[in-house]
Amino acid sequence: MKVLAINLSHNASFSIVENGKLVLSIEQERVSKVKRDSQIHKLSEGLKNNHFDIVGYTSYNMFDDKVESYTDLVKTCLKKENITYDKLICYDKHHLTHCYSSFYNSGFEEAVCLIIDNGGTTYTVNDVNLGQENISIYKMSYTKEPELLFKLCRDWWGRDISIGKYHTYNMMSPAGVFEMYKDALGFKEPGSIMGLSSYGKENSEIPKIYDERDMFCKLNTSFNDVILRRKTSYSKGMVPDEDFCYRIQKDCTNVVKKYIKWIMNNYGNNICLSGGYFQNSIANYEFLKMNNNIFVDPVCHDGGTSIGLAQHLDYKYNNNKPEKYNSLYQGPIYMNQKELLEMYKPLNFSHSKQKYKIVDMGNKEVASLLKQNKCIGMYQGRSEMGPRALGNRSILFNPSNPNAKEKVNLVKNREWFRPYAGTVLYEHTNDWFNLEGKNETPYMSYVVGVKENKINLIPGICHIDNSCRIQTLKKEQNNNFYEIINEFYKLTGVPVLLNTSLNTAGMPLIESIEDVLNMMLKSNIDMIYFPEYKKAIESI
Ligand SMILES: [Fe+2]
Repeated sequence: MKVLAINLSHNASFSIVENGKLVLSIEQERVSKVKRDSQIHKLSEGLKNNHFDIVGYTSYNMFDDKVESYTDLVKTCLKKENITYDKLICYDKHHLTHCYSSFYNSGFEEAVCLIIDNGGTTYTVNDVNLGQENISIYKMSYTKEPELLFKLCRDWWGRDISIGKYHTYNMMSPAGVFEMYKDALGFKEPGSIMGLSSYGKENSEIPKIYDERDMFCKLNTSFNDVILRRKTSYSKGMVPDEDFCYRIQKDCTNVVKKYIKWIMNNYGNNICLSGGYFQNSIANYEFLKMNNNIFVDPVCHDGGTSIGLAQHLDYKYNNNKPEKYNSLYQGPIYMNQKELLEMYKPLNFSHSKQKYKIVDMGNKEVASLLKQNKCIGMYQGRSEMGPRALGNRSILFNPSNPNAKEKVNLVKNREWFRPYAGTVLYEHTNDWFNLEGKNETPYMSYVVGVKENKINLIPGICHIDNSCRIQTLKKEQNNNFYEIINEFYKLTGVPVLLNTSLNTAGMPLIESIEDVLNMMLKSNIDMIYFPEYKKAIESI
C-alpha cells in the first residue's frame, strides 16, 4: 500500500509512505530553487509516473472556499505528471499534521505533543469563529484518536473567549514574535535573531515581551513601541540590537517552558515538540535541560507536515502502524550520476574565470585536505529532508581554525554573528559536548554546551557563549562521513568537523548533481567531493 501526502503551504513538500515506512520525502524548494516555495508546478524525481492507493493534501489554513482551488491544483499537478490514485483526501487540521510527524517518529507509544507555529487552521466552535490556532497540546497514542488538551487561537479583534479546551485571545505565539521582529530588526530569517541573541544581555531599557498573562502570549505594547522606535534619532544606538534579540530569545523560551512544565506536571515526560518555533535549537537545549526525554521533531516546520500526513493516512486507511524513520536521507534516488559527473571535463568549465579539474580522491585524502584548511563540499546519496545538512549535502571545514567562519563565509556569505554547526563522532560526544544526559542528536536539534577543556580546540564552531549546534554520527548512519571525521581525528586528535549546508547564500540546499556543478562555477569553494565515486572537482 502506497500513500503520497502533499503539503501546499510554504515549504511545500511531498512524502511517500509504503506499508508503514517512509520511503521518500522532499521539499519543493530543492527542485524549484525558490526558498520556502509553496508552488508545486515542477515535481521531483521519484514522484512521477506512479500509482498511489491514497493521495492526501494539506495546508496551514484550508478555508472552505479555498479547498476547491487546492483540489483543482492537486488534480492538475498529478495528471500532468502521470500520477494516478484510488482515493484523494483533503486534510485540514494543520497542528495535527505536526503532531503526527513528531509522535510517529519519536519512538513513544504514548506522548503529549506541544505544537507552536505562526498560525494553522482556523477553528469554529459552537458557531464562534475563534481564529487561527497558534499553540496546541494534544495527547497522542496509537490506539485512540488524538485528545485535545489545550488550543490557543489568535484573535485580531481583542476578544477573550474560552470554549472548553479552546481559547482565543489577541496573542502572538513565540513563532509569530520571531517572524514579526525579524522584519523589524531587518533580518531575512528568524534564525538571525537566535544567532545574535548570544551576543546580547539583559537590558533594563527593553520591556518584557509578554504581559502577565503570558501563558496566553499577549504582547506587551511597550516592547513593541521600544523596538519600533529604536532606529529613530531619539533612541538610536541607545539599545543595541543584540539586546533586543536576547530579550526575544529569552522571553519566548520562558513562555514555552511554562507549557512544558504544565505538561510534565499533568502528563509525564513523554513530550514531542513540533511546529516551526522548534527550529530554535538554542531554546531546544533549554527544554532538554528540563526533560531529557523530550523529542524535537527534526522536520518541525511545515515541510514536515507531509511526512505526518502520509503516515497518518496509511495508518488510518491501510492499518499500517507507522514505522519511525531512522534516517532523514529521504530524497529521491537519481540515475546516471557518475556518468553526469564524468561528462564534466575541464573543457566544460572554459567559460568560467575559475579553472577546475576532476581528480581521484579518497576519504583519507579529504581528511588531510581539511586539516590543511580546505573548504570542501560533499555530495553523496539521497538528500536530507528538512533544514539541516547531515553529511550528504554538506560543506566541511576544519573546526580548529579560529578563522573558520570567515573562510566558510566566502562561500556562504552569512551574517558575521551566525555560528556554524559541527558533527562529532558518536563515541566522542560526551567528551566534547554536554548533552544533558541525552545520548545523541543525529538530526542537529540542539545548540549544546562545549566542554570547557575543548573550547580552545574547536574555536571555528564555538559560539560566543561557548555553545555549538551539533550532529552526533554513528558509522552505520553515514559510513563515508564517519570515515572522513575519523581520519581527521587520527591526524588532529579532534573527532569533529564543521558541517554546514551545501549551498550558496540565500539558496535552498543543493539537490542534484547538476546543482553541484552550477554551484562550483559560482562559488569560492575549494573542492566538491563525491565519496561514492572517489572523485572530486577541484579548483586550480
Ligand atoms: Fe505549521
